[in-house]
Amino acid sequence: MKIVLVGYMGSGKSTIGKMLSENVGIPFYDLDEIIEKQEGMSIKKIFIEKGEVYFRKLEHSVLNVFINTNEDFVLSLGGGTPCYANNHEVLKMSDVASFYLKNSVDTLCERLENEKMSRPLIANFNKEELKEYVNKHLFDRNFYYYQSKYVVECTSKSIEEVVLEIKSILT
Ligand code: S3P
Repeated sequence: MKIVLVGYMGSGKSTIGKMLSENVGIPFYDLDEIIEKQEGMSIKKIFIEKGEVYFRKLEHSVLNVFINTNEDFVLSLGGGTPCYANNHEVLKMSDVASFYLKNSVDTLCERLENEKMSRPLIANFNKEELKEYVNKHLFDRNFYYYQSKYVVECTSKSIEEVVLEIKSILT
């Protein structure tokens, strides 16, 4: 079973992915972590030293190799992954169950405010700038996120509830 989790930064893709993988008994992978291992460098450092275009090309090729060489997995994508280089086609593949973990702008901003330093795209924003940025960015990205086969509303749900909802869709 190929399960792919999609969503904006801070939407809980990795936390939910790990719990889901334990629940369904198939391994969990995080695309950012695969890229970091392969490059021997953090995502933040790749952005700073090599630039975003380099990162997006790498992300595209790592995603395609991964999807085509692995059978059973829960894979959480980066927040921007489906929005570049036609990567959203992966979400529609017949053997892939893709889930968009949808959260409100306020929920995302609350979470991101505390961890923005490790995220190159938002590291330098104050509170108001962050909200404006996330709002606009989500508006642009929703088109791609909604190519997922299932949309799971996560706002005001616990991690456990979201995992159960995904499991019930899968069975
Ligand atoms: C990005 C999200 C990040 C990471 C990179 C770019 C984005 O992943 O891939 O910093 O464009 O939204 P997470 O959503 O896992 O933080």
